[in-house]
Amino acid sequence: QDKETVEEIFLADVNSVGEILDSGEWALNHSIDHGVVCDVIKSLTGFELVSSKELSRESWVLEPEAEDYVQHGSAEMQVFQAVPPEGITLAELKAKVGEKVFSVGHKNAMSRKWIQMQKPLIVRKLDSVEDSVRNHLVTIQEGKELSPEVIKELKSRKLISRRLWKGYSVTKGPKFALKRRKPATDVTREILQNGSWKDQEYKEYNFDALGLPVEGGYLHPLLKVRAAFKKIFLGMGFEEMPTNNFVESSFWNFDALFQPQAHPARDSHDTFFLKTPAKTIELPEDYLQRVKTVHEVGGYESIGYGYNWKREEAEKNLLRTHTTAVSSRMLYKLAQEGFRPKRYFSIDRVFRNEAVDRTHLCEFHQIEGLICDRGLTLGDLIGVLYEFFGRLGMTKLRFKPAYNPYTEPSAEIFGYHEQLKKWVEIGNSGMFRPEMLLPMGLPPGVNVIAWGLSLERPTMILYGIDNIRELFGHKVAGCRDYQPKCHPDGEVDKQH
Ligand code: PHE
Repeated sequence: QDKETVEEIFLADVNSVGEILDSGEWALNHSIDHGVVCDVIKSLTGFELVSSKELSRESWVLEPEAEDYVQHGSAEMQVFQAVPPEGITLAELKAKVGEKVFSVGHKNAMSRKWIQMQKPLIVRKLDSVEDSVRNHLVTIQEGKELSPEVIKELKSRKLISRRLWKGYSVTKGPKFALKRRKPATDVTREILQNGSWKDQEYKEYNFDALGLPVEGGYLHPLLKVRAAFKKIFLGMGFEEMPTNNFVESSFWNFDALFQPQAHPARDSHDTFFLKTPAKTIELPEDYLQRVKTVHEVGGYESIGYGYNWKREEAEKNLLRTHTTAVSSRMLYKLAQEGFRPKRYFSIDRVFRNEAVDRTHLCEFHQIEGLICDRGLTLGDLIGVLYEFFGRLGMTKLRFKPAYNPYTEPSAEIFGYHEQLKKWVEIGNSGMFRPEMLLPMGLPPGVNVIAWGLSLERPTMILYGIDNIRELFGHKVAGCRDYQPKCHPDGEVDKQH
C-alpha cells in the first residue's frame, strides 16, 4: 500500500471507468486506507493528472472495539464459539476468551439464548448462530444504511460514532496519464546526451516562492546605537568634537589631563606606543611649561605631584587611549579663542593594550560628553546625567565615588536595567580638576562636567550580545539584521 502503487492502481481505474464517484467506496473495494487514497488524489490533482471534487458527509465510523469485532467476531460470537459441544466451566471460558470479551460476550450470548448454564457447565443452546452485530458493523464500514433501531443499539454499546467524513469524486484531469512523470528541475548533461530532454516535462519556476533572506546591507548595531546617542547629544544642544586623529601624543592624552608620567596607564602594557613616528612634531610651548610646572610643583592652590616632568615622555606618540584626549585639545583651543560656555560630545574609537576576551577588545568606541561653563557643580553633573540617560530610557541611576587623575570629584555611573532587573555599570564621570583647566588658560570659576562610556557595552545589552567579538573585530560573524532585544522607547530602531 505504498503511495506509488496506490497511485498506479488509482490512475488505471480512472482510465478504465472514466470517473471515481466516491473515494471512500473505492478505498473500501481495494482494501486501501482512505487516508492514503486522499493523499494520492490531492497530489494527482495538484499536478492536474486528475480533477477532483471534495465530498463531505456525516457518517458512522467504527470505534477500535468494533474494528476488532469485524476481524474476530462480536464478543457474544467469540464466547459462543469458545463453548464446545460438551460444555465448559465459567472459569475455563473466561480464560479462553479473555476478561474483556467474556464480560460483554457472556452476558449477551446468555440473553440471546445462544448458551445456557447447566451447572457446573456452560453449554450451547443452539448449534449455530448468526453474528448480526458483526454484520451490521461491516455494513457501516461499507458506508451503507442501517435501521434506526440497529444504529441505536450499536451506539449504546459504544461501537460506532458520528464523524464528518471527507473524500473526493475524481475524473481525468487535463494532464491525465497512467503514470506520473516527475518534472525535471534542471536540464542536465545526461538528459541532453540521451535525448530524453525532448519529451521531458519541466518543473515551472515558482516566482511566488519566498527567497532566502538577504544577508548583507544591514546597518551594524554599533552604528545604530551611535546614531541614537548622537541624536540624544544633538537634542541636548551638544556640538560634535573632531575625532579624526587616532594617533595622539602622550601630552594631550595624559599630561594635559594631569595624569602623572609614572601612572601605570602610561606603561606599554596598557597603551600602544608608536614606533614611527615615535615623537610628536610640536607642542604649544608656553602651555607645555605650565603643564610641567603643575605636575612638578603645582600651583592654582595645588601642590602638584613633586616629580621631575620629562618632555620626552610627553612627546611619545600613542594610539589614543580615551577620547578625553580630544576633550583636552578642545578645551585648550576654547581657552585660546576666548572662553564661551560649550557643550561638546564625541563618539569614536580608542585603543588599549588589553587581553582580548568576551568583554574586552584592544579597540573600542567611547562616547564622551562635557559641559564647560561658569559655576557648574556636582549637582549639575548628576542632573545632566539623569537627563542624558533618561533619554536613553534609563531613569534610575546610582553614583559611586571613584578616582580619575583628571577629575575631582569622580563618580562611576550605574543604571537600573529594567529588562535585566539589575544595576549595571554604564559609565564614568567627574568634574575636571583645576590643575587641568587653569594651565589651559580657562578663566577661574569656569568648571567642566564630563562623562564617558563605551559604545559597545550599551549595544551589547541592547541587542543581547554577550560576546563582544561577535560585535566588533576580525571574528565578526556573517551579517544579520540585529534587532534590539530591549529598548524602552525603540529610539534606536527609529533611526533608520
Ligand atoms: N576618560 C574616562 C575613561 O576612559 C571616562 C571619563 C570621561 C571620565 C570624562 C570622567 C570624565 O574611562
